[in-house]
Amino acid sequence: MSTGKRRPLVVGNWKMNKGPQEADALAVQLKVVIQDYPAVDVGVAPTFLALPAVAERLKHTAVQVVAQNCHPEVSGAYTGEVSPEMLRQLGVTWCLVGHSERRQIFGESDSFVGQKVRGCLRAGVLPILCVGETLAERDAGQAEAVVQRQLDAGLAGLPTDQLASVTIAYEPVWAIGTGRNASPQQAQEIHAFIRSYLEDRYPPFVSRSMRILYGGSVKGSNAAGLLGQADIDGALVGGAALTRDDFVAIVAAAHQRGS
Ligand code: PGA
Repeated sequence: MSTGKRRPLVVGNWKMNKGPQEADALAVQLKVVIQDYPAVDVGVAPTFLALPAVAERLKHTAVQVVAQNCHPEVSGAYTGEVSPEMLRQLGVTWCLVGHSERRQIFGESDSFVGQKVRGCLRAGVLPILCVGETLAERDAGQAEAVVQRQLDAGLAGLPTDQLASVTIAYEPVWAIGTGRNASPQQAQEIHAFIRSYLEDRYPPFVSRSMRILYGGSVKGSNAAGLLGQADIDGALVGGAALTRDDFVAIVAAAHQRGS
């Protein structure tokens, strides 16, 4: 458990929803209302197609632009892919890496996810490394082992000075898009496990400063309980990030934690 004070971060993952016009319309709403919550870092992750419009709309505002995915390389023959360098040119601050939908539906391996983390850092884009166990893994008592394996590969080979640029998102797969969120205690247990994983391996500033977000059916109604936990530094939000009021309710709860 950690008592360090980290600035909360809330990221809305819009997944494969909202084309450029709809995405821009939500960005217009958010850029005004988010000004009321200065104690929180806020980001939104539209589809690649909507990124240019949203990045333009949110330039010089309090809302950062986040990508949902990337390829590790700078450029080359990788049909259909987007590089971290291209994201940086567009003004993207963070990039999700290893989201469970990428791992499960698109077969991304732990080591490929680690390459993406390193590719982001090379380009100056801040990776949000997503980890989390499936229900079968949790029921088999393997939640911590799975998270540890994903952290080992995701953080492999990173110099300690770069670790401070990484954010971790713990997202139990059984809680994503299911309406079944982890209880604050269940989430805190794994967050504390991740914090002690960092403490055991790196200098103290890493575990003190690295933000660990919770994701999986976060809503306005459960955000305060989750964000009240010692090691939960913010939220990665899917469904509830698609409408202004639902998302803002979560940002407001994070603002409470940060104030
Ligand atoms: P959810 O998605 O909030 O809809 O469960 C979270 C995520 O996948 O990041």
